[in-house]
Parts: sequence; C-alpha cells; structure tokens
Amino acid sequence: MYTGFKHLHSTLAYVLLAGLLISILYVLFAYLQNKGYNRKMALLGLICAHLQLVVGLVVYFVSPLGLQGASGEAMKNSTARLYFLEHPLVMLIAIVLITVGYSRAKKLTIPKKQNGTVLAFYLIALILILSRIPWQVWPPGLGQGFRF
Ligand code: HEM
Ligand code: HEM
Repeated sequence: MYTGFKHLHSTLAYVLLAGLLISILYVLFAYLQNKGYNRKMALLGLICAHLQLVVGLVVYFVSPLGLQGASGEAMKNSTARLYFLEHPLVMLIAIVLITVGYSRAKKLTIPKKQNGTVLAFYLIALILILSRIPWQVWPPGLGQGFRF
C-alpha cells in the first residue's frame, strides 16, 4: 500500500507539473492575444491538482515520513520537517489557490479577466509547488535519489 501510493504520488507529480504548465501557457497566450477563455484548458490543471491532493493525503497517513514522522525532534531536522510539515502544507495551499483561481474565473464574464485570473493563481501555485518538491529524491534516478 505504502510503496504503491508513493510511486503513484511520485508519478502524478510529473502529470501535475505538465498539466499545470500546459494550462498556464494556454491562458498566458490567450491573455496576451486577447483570445477567448477556454475553461477546459484551466480544468486540466485543476483535475491534476485534485488527483494529486487525494493521493498525497493517503501517502501522508501511510508513509513513515508523513504524520508518523511528526515530532518536536523532527521539527529541528530540515528533511523530516519538509516531509511532515512544509511539503504537505505548502502543496495544500497551492491546490487551494488553483481551485480558487478556477472558481473565480468561472464566475467572471470578460475573457481577458478570466485568463488573467487563472494565470495569476496558477502561476503562484506553480512557484509554491516547485519550492517544496523534495528535489534531493525526485525525479527518481538522478544522483542518490535512485530508489526503484
Ligand atoms: C502539488 C501537489 C504535490 C506534489 C507535486 C507532490 C510531489 C511529491 C514528490 C515528487 C514526492 C517525492 C516522491 C518520491 O520519493 O519519489 C513527494 C513525497 C511526499 N508527499 Fe507530496 N506532492 C504534492 C502534494 C502532497 C500533499 C497534499 C501531501 C499530503 C497531504 C503530500 C505528502 C507527501 C509525503 C508524506 C511524501 C513523502 C513520501 C515518502 O517518501 O514516504 N504531498 N511529493
Ligand atoms: C480531497 C479531495 C478533493 C477536494 C477537497 C476537492 C475540492 C473541490 C472544490 C472545492 C471544487 C470547486 C471548484 C469550483 O468552485 O468550481 C472542486 C472542483 C472540481 N474537482 Fe475536486 N476536490 C477533490 C478531489 C477531486 C478528485 C479526486 C477529482 C477527480 C479527478 C476532482 C475533480 C474536480 C473537478 C473536475 C472539478 C471542477 C468542477 C467544475 O467544473 O466546476 N476533485 N473540487
């Protein structure tokens, strides 16, 4: 269960980064060229984010590095703190931002504003996500991170 979900979470990280990037690039060009708003293109990033959220939550409760790794001692260790606190918390904030951006755009009516809203929220979310990926072990296969 742990290994399976961990691999799924690790694989979905590629899917989410790709999906989010496609959504961002699409709304960026639509914004710059004053094109219409394509909700399906924003939905791509939202669905990838929600999927990763569900899998991430499962991993958090089954992984020894998640909730089980939380302690006052672990707070002083930057790697342990990343896994049990910073990574889940910042990723959660990022996914909330993506959801809020998507929802707001849905309620707006001017395409330029819709594209601009999704662009801003998704871009901040992407930066947050990139800031808390455990780069020392991901992508697997690089450096010491080979763990298959
Ligand atoms: C934006 C969404 C997220 C991305 C892109 C992401 C990405 C990753 C990556 C790349 C890893 C390393 C996997 C590996 O060792 O190969 C990881 C590990 C982990 N993630 Fe996430 N994550 C996200 C959201 C979450 C959320 C919402 C939670 C929990 C609520 C979570 C909990 C964890 C835990 C506990 C680990 C450590 C797993 C282990 O090695 O035992 N993640 N995540
Ligand atoms: C912990 C689990 C989840 C939570 C808390 C959550 C939360 C939300 C929220 C608050 C919205 C509303 C956005 C709006 O105002 O339009 C939403 C929309 C959506 N979610 Fe999730 N979600 C979760 C899991 C999933 C999963 C697993 C999927 C499927 C892959 C998914 C797919 C979607 C889709 C497609 C929408 C957009 C619906 C629309 O167009 O209005 N979500 N979710």
